[in-house]
This record gives sequence, C-alpha cells and structure tokens, in this order.
Amino acid sequence: MGNDLNWNLSFSEYKESETTKHVHRLHSYKGKFIPQLVEYFLDQHTDNFKKKSFFSAGDIILDPFCGSGTTLVQASELNLHSIGIDVSAFNAFMGNIKVGKYNIDDIRNAANIITKNLKKFQKKKTM
Ligand SMILES: C[S@@+](CC[C@H](N)C(=O)[O-])C[C@H]1O[C@@H](n2cnc3c(N)ncnc32)[C@H](O)[C@@H]1O
Repeated sequence: MGNDLNWNLSFSEYKESETTKHVHRLHSYKGKFIPQLVEYFLDQHTDNFKKKSFFSAGDIILDPFCGSGTTLVQASELNLHSIGIDVSAFNAFMGNIKVGKYNIDDIRNAANIITKNLKKFQKKKTM
C-alpha cells in the first residue's frame, strides 16, 4: 500500500525541532506544511523525482491558501517574492508577522520594557 506515493516527500527523518525551525515555531498548527517540503519544490535542485526546477530568485509565488505563511517564509529565504491569501484573519495575521520586516533595536527595546514590567508585576504579586 502506498507504493504510488513518493515517501521521501514525507520528510519523516526530520525532528519536530527541524520542521518548526526559526519562525515556524511561533505557534502550533497541525495543518502547516513541513518547511522542508516547500523548500524541496521551490529551490533549484533536481533529483530522480523533481526533474527540473521551477523557480528562480525574483520570481513571484502565489499561495492562495497560505495558512500561517510557511510558503511565504520559505520563498523569502530563497529570495523569491510571494503573495499569500487566506480566509482566516488569524492565519493571515500570523503569516504577516512571520514575513514582516522589523527593526531589531525596536524589538529589543520593546522586549526589555515587557521584561521589566513583568518583573515588577511578579515582585508586587509576591509582596
Ligand atoms: C491546510 S491550511 C494551509 C496551511 C499552510 N500551507 C501553512 O503551512 O501554514 C489551509 C488554509 O486554507 C484556508 N482556506 C480555506 N478555505 C479558503 C478559501 N476559500 N479562501 C482562502 N483560504 C481558505 C484556511 O483558512 C487554512 O488556513
């Protein structure tokens, strides 16, 4: 059973920590693509199954059911442009967070303020 499927594309050899690398760990969602699967189809390599590559840097990928943006993130890593559409406002929100451009200093400052306020709150609670 299942001999008509290419089981190499299950990427079952990857640990959970690898299939949720970097921003893919932001939240859990069982319906997400495995990023390695997306990379497989977007990158330039070929093998016995993928006989030619379909995308080059600068191309535009459209994912009309983009969920929380796995395709958009992987496209970005490969210097591809991407457009994502999703009916779920929450998923669109998560996808936009993952591909947005951020100022690291602003993020560090915001994180420091949050940490400081949390510490204050904890201290107050234990008094
Ligand atoms: C299996 S998920 C896709 C997950 C995505 N590949 C990822 O890695 O995060 C399918 C997505 O299709 C979206 N969807 C379902 N019907 C839709 C529609 N008619 N138009 C746009 N998005 C839709 C759902 O909200 C859901 O996020």
